[in-house]
Amino acid sequence: MSANSQFGKQGWTPARIDSLAGKTYLITGTTSGTGFEAARILLGKGAEVVMLNRNEQKAAGVIADLKQRVGAGSKVSNVKMDLADLASVRAAAEEILTKVPKIDALICNAAIAQVPQQQLTKDGFESQLGVNHYGHFLLCSLLFDRLNESRGRIVVVASEGYKMGSKTIQFDDMNWDKNYSPNAVYSQSKLAQMMFAYELQDRVKAAGKQVTAYVCHPGASATSLIENSGSRMSKIIFGLMAKTPLVQSAEKGAYGQVMLATEPTENLDQKAYYGPTGFQNFTGPVRASEVAPHAQDKVTMERLWSVSEKAVGFTWNI
Ligand SMILES: NC(=O)c1ccc[n+]([C@@H]2O[C@H](COP(=O)([O-])OP(=O)(O)OC[C@H]3O[C@@H](n4cnc5c(N)ncnc54)[C@H](OP(=O)(O)O)[C@@H]3O)[C@@H](O)[C@H]2O)c1
Repeated sequence: MSANSQFGKQGWTPARIDSLAGKTYLITGTTSGTGFEAARILLGKGAEVVMLNRNEQKAAGVIADLKQRVGAGSKVSNVKMDLADLASVRAAAEEILTKVPKIDALICNAAIAQVPQQQLTKDGFESQLGVNHYGHFLLCSLLFDRLNESRGRIVVVASEGYKMGSKTIQFDDMNWDKNYSPNAVYSQSKLAQMMFAYELQDRVKAAGKQVTAYVCHPGASATSLIENSGSRMSKIIFGLMAKTPLVQSAEKGAYGQVMLATEPTENLDQKAYYGPTGFQNFTGPVRASEVAPHAQDKVTMERLWSVSEKAVGFTWNI
């Protein structure tokens, strides 16, 4: 059977999920957009969801909202974590290791995009690379052993943006001090997240570990992403685009990540790239699509791994 044939003409949908009772999923960034929808779908199938959000007040509102939509008995909680602050990521991982004995999947969903001017995280990284890549890289490293004991998965939420910009990593100026550009920097941060997942797969295999890692993207989905961090112009453009059929709902945008967290592993291909497969991959049936070779360039993936280890101050044992 090919990587896609079992999903049929309509592609993957949550109808494929039976019960998720007894499963626990961690999702970063669930206050809006695809993360919120993924939490809602997983809870609706009986799973426990541990959300990781920086804003505790917003998270409390999200918990109330989810309980109202899915049921008062839903097992949903929040661990405070700001991906723009590595100390906060370390504290969150410590709390998770105390509270969550088994992790079926960690979904790296949170992001900022197209930040108009260069901004730095608390640790001095350019903000899009810092939040989207370095923050998640550290979180995954700190939870790796627990994921391994759980035979769990890491799901990286990437973007079609990885095909834009320089299509590589600008190692000589990781903070983009010389040539900051909102789109190119976002594209590179999403490419870095993908390279992390593909490199992790190779290391897991070589070390005989039990974690699987997958990459998806939500196409073009009506979420708060551009509204939250983009420029005025990008907000206007995306706002207009969102009124057309070129943009799908946030719920459909969540299908890829929910699929990679729940579908039996024998039906998935780790080296693939999953998401909507209609026009320009904006909307349409969710299944595997071609991944451009630059996202799996081994020399760049290995170099990025060691640069990332140095940046976050953590050396993996694989
Ligand atoms: N929407 C699209 O068309 C599209 C296209 C390609 C890829 N994506 C990807 O899809 C994923 C989900 O984004 P979305 O579209 O659903 O956007 P969204 O509605 O803006 O959701 C982003 C989430 O990330 C959280 N977040 C931002 N900065 C954070 C930080 N420093 N620490 C912790 N959480 C943080 C936000 O929380 P706050 O409420 O605290 O800000 C929010 O919950 C992202 O990885 C994005 O790159 C989206």
